[in-house]
Amino acid sequence: MSDLQQRIAEAVAQPKNLGEMSDADAVGTAGSEGCGDMLRMWVKFRQDAQGRKVIDRATFQTFGCETAIAVASVATELVAGKTIAEALDLSGADLASSLGALPPMKIHCAQLVEGALRSALQGDSAPAASGHSEKQQSPAAHTAGSPTLRDSFKPAEGSVRKPNIVFKQPGNTDAPSDS
Ligand code: FES
Repeated sequence: MSDLQQRIAEAVAQPKNLGEMSDADAVGTAGSEGCGDMLRMWVKFRQDAQGRKVIDRATFQTFGCETAIAVASVATELVAGKTIAEALDLSGADLASSLGALPPMKIHCAQLVEGALRSALQGDSAPAASGHSEKQQSPAAHTAGSPTLRDSFKPAEGSVRKPNIVFKQPGNTDAPSDS
C-alpha cells in the first residue's frame, strides 16, 4: 500500500468533522457529473483576535468515494481559522495536500470538496471545476427542515431512476473500494 493509500485509509477509518452541523452559518453542496458523487459542507464562522471573520469549524457529509471522504476530512481541519478569502484561495490539491499528491483520476474527488467549500463560502452557484454546486442554503432554511443530503437523493415520487449512492458512516467497514 502506498503512502497515499495509507493516509487515505487512515482518514476514512476515522474521518474528522463528519456529519451535519445544526448551527452552521453556511452550507454548500457540490456534485461531480463524472462520477455522480455528492458532497455537502457546513461552515461556522467566528471572529478572531484581530477582528477578522474566520472559519471556526467545518463539517461534511458525502456520497463520495474514499478519496473524497479523506480529502474532506483533512480539508475541514485545514480551513479552520482561515478567513473566507484564504479558504477560497485553496485549490482541491491544496485541500488534499496533507494526504499527498493525488493521481490524475482522483483529482476530481478533491475538486468535489473544493466545490462544496466554495458553494458554502460564496453562497452562489459558481461551478466547481469538476461538476456543479448548489446555491447556498440559509442555515435557518436548513434547520427548518430543508432536506438532508440523504433526503436530497431519495428518488422522486414515481421516479424509476435510483441515485448512484452509498451512505458511509464512521467505522463502516463494508464501504465500497476506492477503485
Ligand atoms: Fe467520485 Fe471520488 S468523488 S470517484
